[in-house]
Amino acid sequence: MKETKEMYILGIESSCDETSASIVKNGTEEIATVISSQIDIHKNYGGVVPEIASRHHVKNITIVLEECLQRANMTMDQIDAIAITYGPGLIGSLLIGLEAAKTLSFIYNKPLIPVHHIAGHIYANSLVRPFQFPLLALVVSGGHTEIIEMTNHYKFNKLGGTLDDAIGECYDKVARVIGLEYPGGKKLDKLAQLEKCTYQLPIPLHDDSYNFSFSGLKSAVINLAHNEEQRGRELNKEDLAASFEKVAIESVINKVKKAVIDKKIKYLIVAGGVAANQRLRKEIEKLGSEMNIEISIPPMKYCTDNATMIAAAGYYAYLDGRRADLSLNSKSQDKLV
Ligand code: KG4
Ligand code: ZN
Repeated sequence: MKETKEMYILGIESSCDETSASIVKNGTEEIATVISSQIDIHKNYGGVVPEIASRHHVKNITIVLEECLQRANMTMDQIDAIAITYGPGLIGSLLIGLEAAKTLSFIYNKPLIPVHHIAGHIYANSLVRPFQFPLLALVVSGGHTEIIEMTNHYKFNKLGGTLDDAIGECYDKVARVIGLEYPGGKKLDKLAQLEKCTYQLPIPLHDDSYNFSFSGLKSAVINLAHNEEQRGRELNKEDLAASFEKVAIESVINKVKKAVIDKKIKYLIVAGGVAANQRLRKEIEKLGSEMNIEISIPPMKYCTDNATMIAAAGYYAYLDGRRADLSLNSKSQDKLV
């Protein structure tokens, strides 16, 4: 084993509909990444079909791994450890990446590092610049909405989270009601930039906690759309998208602001697929200058699922002493904290 000062980690991610492999040096420097996305396949069904996703991971995984090594101009002998997303996610999808990682670990005798998918999203930020502690991580994804405090690398403390739907899930459901094709979150965001907020929607869980709630907002949008239809009135989709987005993002910003003040935080990072949201990015930047705190939002390519963030998180997990053996299993549900 080389010094940890120069460590090349091969990351593997297959928790949903992206098969990805990446090599990252010292948790911060991306050497090569390959992502094979299945969006075009699943959009025919209006969402990810787990069985189909697993089959495509099987087809893609060796190609993606070989291409990643090729792009990096490296062989497995030059890799120091393998970081794998063990969960949460679709169990069939997770298992394909996990089996590939375990096989490589066994054949090439490399340490296996288990990485939680959300730790991966958080560490996407370490590819941009080093963390400063204590920090707050706002996690906004298809399956999670959480505010996490970090006092050091791999030391996570959850301050609050969603009581029901995740924000990304809510975006996707509202997008479907508006009639947008899967994956709807990104399209809804685009539509929202076109119009005014003319529809009145409730700000979710406007209280003193660090928690979120999105199911009431989702139901309010669904009811509003049905009522307009029943009255024979045409729904202004752009306005509804803008009205929804305003309230959803405002609710997130309110809670983050409270946590920043309460915890006297100077460094805030944003993580997960919804970090790609234009309004959220703008509002977080605004919050940063208002409160005089440093902000880190990953570039778009690190917001969606990728193995680069898994390899980056894997480095810090390795330094934290985290190792797995061949008995490691995938977990469809697993809490980071
Ligand atoms: O992080 P991610 O891959 O999901 C989990 O790991 O759970 O994020 C996917 C989620 C989806 O719900 C997608 O609709 C949402 O992120 N998303 C967006 C945007 N781009 C992706 N939501 C709002 N605005 C966007 N621009
Ligand atoms: Zn994700």
